[in-house]
Amino acid sequence: MSANITLTMIKPTAFKNNCTGKILYKITEAGFRVVAMKVTKLSKEEAMKFYEVHAGRPFYGELVDFMSSGPIVAAILEKENAVEAYRELIGATNPAEAAEGTIRKECGTNIGENAVHGSDSDENAAIEASFFFSQTERF
Ligand code: RTP
Ligand code: MG
Repeated sequence: MSANITLTMIKPTAFKNNCTGKILYKITEAGFRVVAMKVTKLSKEEAMKFYEVHAGRPFYGELVDFMSSGPIVAAILEKENAVEAYRELIGATNPAEAAEGTIRKECGTNIGENAVHGSDSDENAAIEASFFFSQTERF
């Protein structure tokens, strides 16, 4: 298990609004290496599984519906201290509260449709990376 990877998703609204290029530019400018990447679409069941940890939360149903509503980009990113470094680059969960220059500030719509996902721990990064990518899809 590597402590130097994180898993991101460009969420449906950001993908639909053609923000993918801008987000990937910010990611690579910040020094992350793209290890794996794909455009895909989560089924409702897959979104439920991905966000299982939030199953009891009031926003779970809305989150699952949104994340399965359209295509996304999933990617594994590598950098020293990747989880923390990426969460700093994306900013606070609510784009309105995210720092200037962060991905969520620049590309987010609202707290639910906040442009991107970022793993919250090394352990979850490994689990989430395996959710989308086999070892042979990682470079
Ligand atoms: P993420 O997992 O997507 O990187 O976001 P996060 O860690 O910043 O936030 P988290 O607490 O893990 O919540 C997961 C996603 O659920 C949606 N959410 N909606 N309506 C709400 O109050 C609310 N709170 C969270 C967001 O899309 C958030 O990214
Ligand atoms: Mg989270």
